[in-house]
Amino acid sequence: TIEPSTALSADIAVIGGSGLYQIQALTNKRSVTIQTPYGSPSDDIVLGELEGVTVAFLTRHGQGHKLTPSEVPYRANIYALKTLGVRYIVSVSAVGSLQEPLKPLDMVVPDQMIDMTKQRVSTFFGEGAVAHISMADPLCPALANILTRAYDKAEIDEGTCHPQATYICIEGPQFSTRAESKWYRQMQADVIGMTNMPEAKLAREASIAYATLALVTDFDCWHPTEEAVSADYAIKNLMKNAENAQKVIKEAVALIAAESPDSIAHNALAQALVTPIEAMD
Ligand code: ADE
Repeated sequence: TIEPSTALSADIAVIGGSGLYQIQALTNKRSVTIQTPYGSPSDDIVLGELEGVTVAFLTRHGQGHKLTPSEVPYRANIYALKTLGVRYIVSVSAVGSLQEPLKPLDMVVPDQMIDMTKQRVSTFFGEGAVAHISMADPLCPALANILTRAYDKAEIDEGTCHPQATYICIEGPQFSTRAESKWYRQMQADVIGMTNMPEAKLAREASIAYATLALVTDFDCWHPTEEAVSADYAIKNLMKNAENAQKVIKEAVALIAAESPDSIAHNALAQALVTPIEAMD
């Protein structure tokens, strides 16, 4: 038997976005380099223990934040986590707010997404294997529910947590134009980011439960009185957000381990429209 402290597998993974480059409370850290048919992941994956549970941590933008949202190797990242046996992914992501009540330093647990990305490979299928999985509910409700409860347990001083929100994913790396920002509001998007698509789609194809802890850094550029987002503006809130997010992650890991929530991703392929192999030339 493999002791948990040396295991090179994990049930739970955290993908850390802008601002979250490590989980400080992880103990007994070991770093694994994984190669995949889709190339290298963004970085080595760090395994460690949190609340007595093995957790895999991956920085989405790599060491020193060197990958743009379009350059993140989404397929390699999800494939590598799958190789480690990951069943739950908590995606921690900086977002802009498109709605007045969602303020900088608040957290948001989205339940819907709109994919406005333009130049990313967003499926593991193709080259003869075809499957259409359901994305009706793109985030795992059970995992999202745990993130919301974890927020309450974490007793964070500033801000609040908003469950249920629509996350719109743009290609970036530029922020949106004012016209786009207003249009996204008309689409009833609540928060805006650059990375959770195709990550959520690929996680679903890989039958991994995926939910997002979105950390609000700014009001994008639609707001009549708030300053339009710039990198400087967003970075001001990133550090505080990352600190708070780690408290939520700690509670979430304990809840996931205790409850092993049912994942809607579990049967993703079983319920998908899949081209039978015989039908292919
Ligand atoms: N990430 C953080 N703030 C953002 C914004 N306003 N637009 C897109 N991605 C973001």
